[in-house]
Amino acid sequence: MDRINVLPDEGVSRFDGMDILSVKQFNHHDLDIILDVARDMREMVDRQGSVDILKGKLLANLFYEPSTRTSSSFAAATQRLGGNVIQINNVTFSSVSKGEELRDTILSMGSYSDAIVLRHPDEGSADIAAEVSAKPIINAGDGIGEHPTQALLDIFTIVEELGTIDGLTVTMLGDLKYGRTVHSLAKLLALYDVKLNFVAPDLLKAPTALVDSLIESGVGPCKHVDLDSIISETDVLYVTRVQRERFADQSVYEKVNRSYAVNVDTMNIAKERMIVMHPLPRVDEISRAVDEDPRAAYFRQMEYGMYVRMALLALVFGKV
Ligand code: NCD
Repeated sequence: MDRINVLPDEGVSRFDGMDILSVKQFNHHDLDIILDVARDMREMVDRQGSVDILKGKLLANLFYEPSTRTSSSFAAATQRLGGNVIQINNVTFSSVSKGEELRDTILSMGSYSDAIVLRHPDEGSADIAAEVSAKPIINAGDGIGEHPTQALLDIFTIVEELGTIDGLTVTMLGDLKYGRTVHSLAKLLALYDVKLNFVAPDLLKAPTALVDSLIESGVGPCKHVDLDSIISETDVLYVTRVQRERFADQSVYEKVNRSYAVNVDTMNIAKERMIVMHPLPRVDEISRAVDEDPRAAYFRQMEYGMYVRMALLALVFGKV
């Protein structure tokens, strides 16, 4: 792989040993670096499948909530770079079920591994982990807080699919209240020249604090609108499922469940070059018939995720 020079004058990349906790850590230049390295990773995988730049490195994948893509793509990314993974996907089989506190579990995993990927139901848990850990912490979702690596792969997807982000209209549809992927992506999009629309059932509107901070960063009015009024000018339709596990009262969930859906009719009035994204898992908010449409980018988005996670690991371990 050609070496990308990310070193500033003093010779140490700012990514080296970095915790990845929130998208707020990144500026435009950082994003350019991550995307460039991800592109190199993609080419490398196409060419030879794997390299050994992380030989001898061990990643701990510590998941307190269900995961298919985030957990497996971090494992795949590590192994394609020549490293190894300790996988804890079900904490009920670990000492967590004996009452161990997050801090202690993090210290244990840190004593065996070189970096920890953490998914946890509590907002702020990744910050707590980073406070106690000597090893880098990568936030793979902290409750309704953030999911920074997902947002980075979402940005990579948009650039690879549409060539640019500046000038685009991005419409976010679904659970904007509890969806952490939306919270992270909206903040990253604020670094670009985009128009952002929100479409959500009343009970699932984006938090006021998020909307206010976006307006402050100049992403336009960020109004909640109807999908029909906005679909024909949308370049990226970002869909999310209703986050059922966040509802204290399941009867409220039932009220909003199935209250929106993207189907063939939606696609018929959308732009020819629009892309539909979804962090997945999809429940029933995008009809299966849409999968056949070349504008459905959500399965390609998963693959982009592996390249971005390869890039992040290589950067955090100081290998590019
Ligand atoms: C998302 C998550 O966990 O926040 N999934 C993912 O990481 N791709 C979205 C979701 O669960 O709805």
